[in-house]
Amino acid sequence: MTKADTAAKETSYREARVELAALLDGVDDPIVVMASAAAVLHQRIERASWTGFYRVVAPGLLRIGPYQGPPGCLEIPFDRGVCGAAARTGKSQVVSDVHAFPGHIACDAAARSEIVVPVRDREGELVAVLDVDSHQPAAFDDDDRLGLESIVALIGGLLKPPSPEPGPSAPHTRP
Ligand code: SME
Repeated sequence: MTKADTAAKETSYREARVELAALLDGVDDPIVVMASAAAVLHQRIERASWTGFYRVVAPGLLRIGPYQGPPGCLEIPFDRGVCGAAARTGKSQVVSDVHAFPGHIACDAAARSEIVVPVRDREGELVAVLDVDSHQPAAFDDDDRLGLESIVALIGGLLKPPSPEPGPSAPHTRP
């Protein structure tokens, strides 16, 4: 990566962040937030073949959320794949060769590299991961990690913690 590449990526992610901040001003519906982020990022990151979210739906389990690209795997346990590693460790994963990553889930046989960034809500709870995949080898590096982490910080700030489970007397339960 040259300094010019780094600067170009910084600019691109900053623009994406500004665009999303304007688009999502006053929004806290998680579907709207994640769908808009997936759309904006997928359009801006030309080398992306798949851009989207996997949501934490139970302890140790991710389920697909809003995304752009071909159909992805529906569920990923925390102990599988790059998404699982990001969720399990709470740390961004930059994988330059998915074939060399133990347990990589090949939803798309043409996928060669990817980056996955954990998403935390306003209270710091892990609620999802942002996954960007590419058909190009080594498509992402530390500049992408920093750029996507800044986008994810914006997204996470818009996400409320989940409301408590309804009790047995909730209105929708039948006697
Ligand atoms: N690349 C992911 C799997 C999800 S999809 O391919 C959309 C992984 O190994 O975690």
